[in-house]
Amino acid sequence: MPSVFVTRKIPESGLQRIQDQFKTEVWAEDAPPSKQVIIEKVGQADALVSLLTDKIDTEVLDAASNLRIIAQYAVGYDNIDVPDATRRGIYVTNTPGVLTETTADFAWALLMAAARRVVEADQYLRNGDWSVAWHPTMILGRDVYGATLGIVGMGRIGEAMAVRAQGFNMKILYYSTRRKPDIEDRLGLTFVDLDTLLQQADFVSLHVPLVKATHHLIDRRRLDLMKRTAFLINTSRGQVVDEKALFKALREDKIAGAGLDVFTEEPTPAGNPLLGLKNVVVAPHISSASVETRSKMAEMVAENLVAYFKGRVPPNLVNQEVLKVKEP
Ligand code: GLV
Ligand code: GLV
Repeated sequence: MPSVFVTRKIPESGLQRIQDQFKTEVWAEDAPPSKQVIIEKVGQADALVSLLTDKIDTEVLDAASNLRIIAQYAVGYDNIDVPDATRRGIYVTNTPGVLTETTADFAWALLMAAARRVVEADQYLRNGDWSVAWHPTMILGRDVYGATLGIVGMGRIGEAMAVRAQGFNMKILYYSTRRKPDIEDRLGLTFVDLDTLLQQADFVSLHVPLVKATHHLIDRRRLDLMKRTAFLINTSRGQVVDEKALFKALREDKIAGAGLDVFTEEPTPAGNPLLGLKNVVVAPHISSASVETRSKMAEMVAENLVAYFKGRVPPNLVNQEVLKVKEP
């Protein structure tokens, strides 16, 4: 029976199946195992179930002499050195698709909350600041309906955002490394270059993976292109945005606000100056966090592992090139 190290307790829907089929060890704490622990565990494992907080780099892979597959419990896999895994003939899988709508829902929630100052309004009332019953200029936000949405990255989640934006009668611009004419036609999107998108959008929402080319994609120069009345929404990866430049842009009212589910460093330190700004709505990386989706993600992880060990190509193989690598 192959052995699996699971770096965190994932939902029963998938964990049970893994435990039924493999010699399974689960890291029982909420906090991630240290690198030292991972190195020790992968030394004996045939398979690893990883989370985006587990750095699977050359040092870990060097220790993983029997490891055949890394089944990531997430759609993003920037924590894994995939080229190195591929060279070693190690399969890498992820959980795409199931979290698309859930993540788009949350990006939309951040967009709405930032635009209409929902969190600020909640705090205002709870703080006992509601002293005038109704006031013509109390907590004024910005309209979402009819505004222009700029979607950066037209993958599954970007497309799900466009569908939502249609219901709000928005003008939809997008930028993506690959143009998607079918989606453009179906959803009435306009393809523009990134700078144009930033100049014209009232809401900019990021849906790109973190790779070298998207690291600090939104930097100081690009933030300067945005309208003073515009909002930036990030549910992708913190490093896609230059966080220091974003803080400056927000503090100096160069842009109107931001909705952030991801940060350069996670957990972000309580002293992160962004947390002191009223025009920022924040969340602790929970965009895919719905009961339904997290269960489905666990089922997919189990299915990827089972398929591999039954000699099938796992349904969510990330590194297709591994199929050409001779297994060790
Ligand atoms: C979460 O951030 C994921 O990539 O699934
Ligand atoms: C998520 O599933 C994406 O690739 O956008």
